[in-house]
Amino acid sequence: MQANAVVIDKYGNSDEFRDQMVDIPELRPKQLLIKVAGSSVTPFDIGVRSGEFSDDFELKMPAITGTDVAGEVVAKGSEVDQFEIGDNVCGMVGVKGFGAYSDYAVLGQSKAAKVPNAVDIKSAAVLPMTAIPAYNSLFDLGKLVSGEKVLIHGGAGGVGSMAIQLAHSVGAIVYTTASPRNFDDLKNLGADKVLDYHTEKFEETLSDMDLVIDTVGGETYKHSFEVLKPGGRLVSLVEDSNIKLADKFNVHAMYLSGKFDNPLAEVLDLISDGEVKLNIQKEFPLTADGVRDAQNYYQSNHVFGKVALIK
Ligand SMILES: NC(=O)c1ccc[n+]([C@@H]2O[C@H](COP(=O)([O-])OP(=O)(O)OC[C@H]3O[C@@H](n4cnc5c(N)ncnc54)[C@H](OP(=O)(O)O)[C@@H]3O)[C@@H](O)[C@H]2O)c1
Repeated sequence: MQANAVVIDKYGNSDEFRDQMVDIPELRPKQLLIKVAGSSVTPFDIGVRSGEFSDDFELKMPAITGTDVAGEVVAKGSEVDQFEIGDNVCGMVGVKGFGAYSDYAVLGQSKAAKVPNAVDIKSAAVLPMTAIPAYNSLFDLGKLVSGEKVLIHGGAGGVGSMAIQLAHSVGAIVYTTASPRNFDDLKNLGADKVLDYHTEKFEETLSDMDLVIDTVGGETYKHSFEVLKPGGRLVSLVEDSNIKLADKFNVHAMYLSGKFDNPLAEVLDLISDGEVKLNIQKEFPLTADGVRDAQNYYQSNHVFGKVALIK
């Protein structure tokens, strides 16, 4: 069986994307074949396409990229026991696998979740790479509990806007940094206080944080140590842990990596209940032209939430 896929032949800019018919691989025992309804643009996908991560993993060219996926299960491996053909699911496609920028994608069952009827497929398509890192950093690593104070940097981003809602949903007091045009929207998502990262030094305003989630890095990461209470936790999605600063401020520094339980089902339930929502700023067709335009749009605009790719 063949599928039309958006492929790249080498690392480079978004002009590398082109459409090509490709053979769909045989499924491994725990894999699902998904008829793709949608995907998204993530900073990770852009880094993969440009070759930023080629020292860590080499893509076999021509490569199908795209990490987020939502769609219908049309075939399943012999050991799949959590999903049926016809289920609508979403999940995170393995980077070296048969990516989401395609008519069909191959998804491991441990990376998937059923999409409840109340959740529209577009929201499901942009969810995995926001919900999984946000949940893992807040709860699996950050151990956030009700009543604690958490500072979430990059609140208007895909991960930040999800983290604000998840932290608010467990009763945390949420501080975030963002650009002023997003302040009202971020308060509506559950942020208790929003700071303008262009004009305000958060380290001069905030103190006694239990947890900081850093999606920005650089000086933002370094100054984050200063606002934690002794024994506080700093989880970065972008910087390796700075043990010197952690010792100096008597706090715990962690980098988000490693394997945790898949939290997608829990977040999908929160979306069903109306407690969490996804903001899709713009959508593009899931074709080579669409992926190129979508990644260019993402890179030249300050997106609030997500850019979607829809079949
Ligand atoms: N380690 C992991 O497993 C993992 C997983 C997912 C993501 N990540 C990384 O996490 C980062 C964020 O991902 P994302 O999908 O949320 O990206 P995104 O959607 O592009 O959002 C980035 C946000 O950061 C804001 N920002 C930029 N500079 C800032 C500053 N100095 N202070 C506060 N906010 C600032 C931007 O606001 P403006 O637009 O207003 O400038 C934007 O809203 C990326 O680098 C990504 O690669 C890592």
